[in-house]
Amino acid sequence: MLRNTIKELSTTILNNQSDFDTIKNTVDEIHKHYLETTNIGELGEGMQHMAAVPTASGMALSLNHAAACLLDYRRTAKLLDGMVTLIREKQQQHPNEIINIFYAGCGPYAPFVTLVAPLFKASEVQFSVLEINAASIKSAEKLINALELTDYVKEYYTADAVTFQIPDAKKYQILFSETLDALLYRESYVPILWNMLPQVSENCAVIPNNVIVTASLTYPEQEGEATKKEKQAAEILNVREAVKINDGSKSLPESFAPITINLESDDKYYSMIVDTKVHIHNDIWLHRNESSLSIPFEMEIAHPLDAPNVTFFYELKPSVELKLQN
Ligand SMILES: C[S@@+](CC[C@H](N)C(=O)[O-])C[C@H]1O[C@@H](n2cnc3c(N)ncnc32)[C@H](O)[C@@H]1O
Repeated sequence: MLRNTIKELSTTILNNQSDFDTIKNTVDEIHKHYLETTNIGELGEGMQHMAAVPTASGMALSLNHAAACLLDYRRTAKLLDGMVTLIREKQQQHPNEIINIFYAGCGPYAPFVTLVAPLFKASEVQFSVLEINAASIKSAEKLINALELTDYVKEYYTADAVTFQIPDAKKYQILFSETLDALLYRESYVPILWNMLPQVSENCAVIPNNVIVTASLTYPEQEGEATKKEKQAAEILNVREAVKINDGSKSLPESFAPITINLESDDKYYSMIVDTKVHIHNDIWLHRNESSLSIPFEMEIAHPLDAPNVTFFYELKPSVELKLQN
């Protein structure tokens, strides 16, 4: 039975979090099964499966790109670890209750249903899944049926998570939405949390729990030093702090407050590095370069300085991206 095979593979990932080769081989094997079962490979290179889908704020990945997220190995392994740990914590806090999970942006494999549900009973966890891309949700449903996980999924919504009103929102203990890219570029994690957090209960946990974008300044290498020294200069955006101001009555702002960084120093900074720190759950983070989501962006600083200050701000309208001014 395929469901048992996936349960074993999922358990292997959970038990080998620090063994990259095992994670990679196991995720590759899961991918092989998912590809065979959904046949999305046969949808081929069709334009409709390669093009990003516009949302009310930000862009959603194409079916093919969303499928490829599974192969971001450490991302998948850490999200799986975070999700299973969180469900077990919620079970402890609410013994004998069903843990209800809202999954916004499931992609064609809904991995955080299909890898997670086999580890629990349907009387323990229930999912509602939402996806803007109709072809992706169709494929997710096909896979869920093939894995005989239909009992775990209450609802399928084809909708935009940026504007969606969640029916019976207060019943969810967990909101999952990995709808982000490095530097929070283009995808809708921020507008989705802006819309959904005021709807769910205050105790509803989120995975990833937060994203913090920081700027660090590096000093030139000294003789005999292997790496450049660096120090954090500013927190450019802390998503959970930024969306807190919405109690459900506010519309999405055009941008969040700007942050200015002064580049003057006797040390003559060599470069500025902007990091995307993805906090998944508890002490589980995606650190620099562990995933495509946490690739840093480094800018060299030319001396003499043209301007002593640079200003960053996160724009939400008309496009979703971090902007820099100097
Ligand atoms: C980065 S992929 C992740 C797919 C899968 N959950 C995983 O972790 O492998 C994000 C998915 O969210 C969907 N998505 C992005 N923005 C969305 C929105 N505003 N409403 C609904 N779905 C969205 C995309 O279409 C894509 O399938």
